[in-house]
Amino acid sequence: MSTIEEVKQKLDIVEVIGQYTKLTKAGRNFKALCPFHNEKTASFYVFPERQSWHCFGACSTGGDVFSFVMKKEGLDFGETLRLLADKVGVRLPSAIERGPDKDEKDRLFHANEAAAQYYHNLLLNSTAGEKAKSYFVSRGLNSKSITDFQLGFSPNAWETLKLYLLEKGYSETELLAAGLILKAEEGKTHDRFRNRLMFPIRDPRGRTTGFSGRVLDDSLPKYMNSPQTVIFDKSGTIYGIDMAGPIIRHQDMAVIVEGYMDVIVAHQYGFSNVVASMGTAITEKHINTLKKLTKNIVLALDADEAGEEAMLRCVEYENSLNTEVKVIILPTGKDPDEVIKENPNAWQGLVEKAMPVIDYTINMTVSRQDMNTASAKSQVANNLLDIIAKVSDDIRRDHYLTKLSKLTGISYNKLEGVLKGHLKPKPQKRGAELTAPSLLQATISNPREEYCLALLLQYPELKNQDEGLLSDYFRDSENREIYNTWLETDDLISLKEKLDPVFREKLDELLARQQPTNRTTERYHDYVLRLKRDFLQNQHVIREEIFNIVRESEGKGADIERLKQEGIELNNQLQAVSVELGQSKRRMVNGNRRNT
Ligand code: UTP
Ligand code: MN
Repeated sequence: MSTIEEVKQKLDIVEVIGQYTKLTKAGRNFKALCPFHNEKTASFYVFPERQSWHCFGACSTGGDVFSFVMKKEGLDFGETLRLLADKVGVRLPSAIERGPDKDEKDRLFHANEAAAQYYHNLLLNSTAGEKAKSYFVSRGLNSKSITDFQLGFSPNAWETLKLYLLEKGYSETELLAAGLILKAEEGKTHDRFRNRLMFPIRDPRGRTTGFSGRVLDDSLPKYMNSPQTVIFDKSGTIYGIDMAGPIIRHQDMAVIVEGYMDVIVAHQYGFSNVVASMGTAITEKHINTLKKLTKNIVLALDADEAGEEAMLRCVEYENSLNTEVKVIILPTGKDPDEVIKENPNAWQGLVEKAMPVIDYTINMTVSRQDMNTASAKSQVANNLLDIIAKVSDDIRRDHYLTKLSKLTGISYNKLEGVLKGHLKPKPQKRGAELTAPSLLQATISNPREEYCLALLLQYPELKNQDEGLLSDYFRDSENREIYNTWLETDDLISLKEKLDPVFREKLDELLARQQPTNRTTERYHDYVLRLKRDFLQNQHVIREEIFNIVRESEGKGADIERLKQEGIELNNQLQAVSVELGQSKRRMVNGNRRNT
């Protein structure tokens, strides 16, 4: 049994998920409010026998215990394995425990570092870089900012960076793994960033992990980022953190804005506690990094995105930080860099007046409504109580209730009574009344998935044969991870480099697996159809289980209708796959006859 299987076998999905959301028994299964999105009625299900979960609501996705923890904690597969192994007391082999090879990673940092130097030098000292330099100047940057942030220019050419770094002793494989070059048709490689303003991205320790490149005009996409590599993960990266980190700790406050330019201009004007996410929504990972520096987080929001949904997300950050998150609402149509350049004091004022997100939401909601009508009052109170109910700290909840009572004129006692109905019950320990699940189903490895993977790994030319294999078809998250990485890489070497060492064992096993050497394209076609059928069948079973639960609990008519519709849809798809499979089988049989 592999280490991953051993860890899986020792875990009970019900227990793991039960630590994140309260599970209620529903027949053989469990249901809950989905821990990934906000909802009032439960649409999240856990199936102990299958050791899987599924959200029938907004997420419309599911998986096994690994994918749940990955999603919830914002970790990659390797990190999740390390976390869960620790939890169940499985000791990982030392090669796995360490994570990707330190030396390998260092080479990638250095390659990115050298690229940053190269682009920076071109910006400052070449004719090609002049236009880029005047662009930065036109955006109000001084030369100190350009140096501090090591801004650069990537020339309009195919191979300049590549040749420069090869000359410096980096291999093509390393440059691919560093995300600096990419493979085009016919296996040729060329520079990833061409004719762009270059913003090196650095980790908290100041090491260059990747780049974002901006066009010089209005063409699209405006920004292009390094791909996911062993040292670059966009979803957890905070731009400017290497410079802002010590200041944030010192001032005990961080301000998060959206754009790179905003960060640079802020620093130029002395607001050095400003950082940005990489154009993605703020994730648990960002919060975890910032949490180590300060508990005071201020988000600069565009006026038009400061809606209720954004606020609910902020409340989640608050719960994770265990303290308030504040917001600044920017003047309509202005980015922070414009506000700061226009009047630094105005920015200072905004930051000083930043308001706790819930206070802001209460003010905004109340001021938009005429509080003299009973129905408006009730609507406002209910919407806000919904948000207040999400606050996990009792004292802060009480504070907001008092405020809401003052603003609406509804008595505190009345509001408190209504709030009870909105409160999420506290997580309970799982009692003995829950039956122990059979772990058998989930831990048997999935042979068909593995045959298919082995085929793909051993016959790289299959990459050009698009059979519509979706990563969702892999139910085993380990297999799914290998497949996803295979999709993102060009050859076995870069696949091995990119995959966390926890996969090595499995990968070696798949590569060594004996299989017929003929008719690979037909066999691939056949596997994909079978995996698709398995996938649809599994969806069908899950749908059936959910349908029963919803019907028994006399759920919403709309849900029943949707489930019925989905059932019909799944049946149609299953039939179509069966027909195709029949054809495929006949072809295989005939082919075999011809071959013998
Ligand atoms: P914006 O489009 O608001 O750009 O995207 P910006 O930062 O204001 O850039 P300037 O001021 O026009 O130079 C905000 C952020 O979203 C991400 C980037 O992180 C950007 O800073 N983004 C945007 C992308 O990653 N890709 C894109 O194509 C666009
Ligand atoms: Mn901007």
